Amino acid sequence: MVKGKRVGIVGAGNVGSTIAYSLAMLGSCHEIILRDNKMEIAKGKALDMSQAAAAVRSHTVVSVAEKMSDLTDCDIVVITAGSPRLPGMSRDDLLMINAKITREVVEGIAKYSPNAIIIMVSNPLDVMTYVALRESGFERSRVIGMAGILDSARMAAFIQEKLGYGGGQIRASVMGGHGDDMVPLPRYSTVAGVPLSDLLREDEIEEIVQRTRKGGAEIVALLQTGSAYYAPAKSTAIMIEAILKDTKQIHPCAVYLDGEYGYYDVVSGVPVMLGANGVEKIIEITLDDSEKEMFANSCASVQTLIDTLNTNKFFEGV
Ligand code: 2OP
Repeated sequence: MVKGKRVGIVGAGNVGSTIAYSLAMLGSCHEIILRDNKMEIAKGKALDMSQAAAAVRSHTVVSVAEKMSDLTDCDIVVITAGSPRLPGMSRDDLLMINAKITREVVEGIAKYSPNAIIIMVSNPLDVMTYVALRESGFERSRVIGMAGILDSARMAAFIQEKLGYGGGQIRASVMGGHGDDMVPLPRYSTVAGVPLSDLLREDEIEEIVQRTRKGGAEIVALLQTGSAYYAPAKSTAIMIEAILKDTKQIHPCAVYLDGEYGYYDVVSGVPVMLGANGVEKIIEITLDDSEKEMFANSCASVQTLIDTLNTNKFFEGV
């Protein structure tokens, strides 16, 4: 049998299963393999999705890995596993719990799918991407965090809501970490090429910036029992498609910085070119002084969390 593209998804909760559904409907890959401790639920979802794929004449088959050792030879493995963010809980509260879960999952990926590209979705996103990189030993082009596409999509939706038009023509740009101090960039956001500043007042743009920063929390407060999943899942599927189809398109993603923008040994969201090899290029855009300051603050927040992991000797295996 010809080996087709295999995408593993660790964590078949709302985000993981919606990613799988999205890929299955697009026919983006041959196999999607779900891995979750709640085996029966994962099996039920896999069956349901395989049947949905058959309904749309997609060739994608969705199955379940009973253990990490069944998640073999994947081209991409997405990690959504982790404790969910509940109302009142900040992304950062999840730090230690999710770092340990990530370590365990990544050890399995490195062993059973050693050539995979890892896409990290669990929060706190940037630090979990850092943990995945450190614990996998993979090169940085193969460990990518999903957040910039999501945050930019939220900003675009808020721009459309504010304007009342422009749907499908909005290019919003967000850099920095996936936290409250992310860096929405109105200067790099346009509607059909028209700069935002020609369409909205400064106070309206500022309102959009603030709402974007709290976009995840707004949904958590409404759902009460969990966090957003449609937009996070679609954003992840966009990354997977870009990699599997080797599109070389530019998307904002969380990556390990090794001197780019003047930062070392930290993960943050920046525009990157995605292709078959993962992150094939990191794009350095020109930031003005205030944007640089916001980016610095955002990197500092991520650094604080990395420092917390170091203080707790996490990387020494504790
Ligand atoms: C979000 O932004 C919870 O990080 C997740 O929706």
